[in-house]
Amino acid sequence: MIELNINGTARSVDADPSTPLLWALRDTLKMTGTKFGCGIAQCGACTVLVDGMAVRSCQQPIEGLVGSEITTIEGASGPVAEALHAAWIEHQVPQCGYCQSGQLMSATALLTDTPTPTDADIDAAMSGNICRCATYMRIRAAIHAASEKLGAA
Ligand code: FES
Ligand code: FES
Repeated sequence: MIELNINGTARSVDADPSTPLLWALRDTLKMTGTKFGCGIAQCGACTVLVDGMAVRSCQQPIEGLVGSEITTIEGASGPVAEALHAAWIEHQVPQCGYCQSGQLMSATALLTDTPTPTDADIDAAMSGNICRCATYMRIRAAIHAASEKLGAA
C-alpha cells in the first residue's frame, strides 16, 4: 500500500510500488480525468502536477511520489486554473477533448511560473502536449486571455 497526497487528500493506493501514477489514478482510484495516450511520455495526455510541476504521469512510479503534492484535472482549482477553464470555454478550445486535461495542466504550470508568457514561452511549455485535433492556435489564444484576465484582477 502506497500513501499519496492527491488533490489535497490522502489516498491509499493498493498497487505495486513500481506502478506508474497514471495507472494508479485511472485503474485503482477510478480518476479518469487524466488520460492515457501513448504511455511513453510522448503525447502529454497524462499530464498532472507534482509539487506544481507538469509531469507525465505515465512515467512516474508511485513509490517516488510519497510526500509530494499531486494535482489532477479533478482537483485543478485556484485563480490560475479557473481563469484557464473560463478561457478554454470562451475560446471553444476543445474539439474531441481527449488531450485537453493534459493541456490544461501544462498551461496551469506555465501561467503559475510565467504569468505573462510570450508566444515562444507558450510554445516551449506546451510543446510536449500533442493535440490530434490541432487546437494549438486556440490553446495559445486562451492562455493569453487567461493571462490578461489574471493580470487585470
Ligand atoms: S500517456 Fe503519458 S505522455 Fe502520453
Ligand atoms: S482536442 Fe482532440 S486531441 Fe486535442
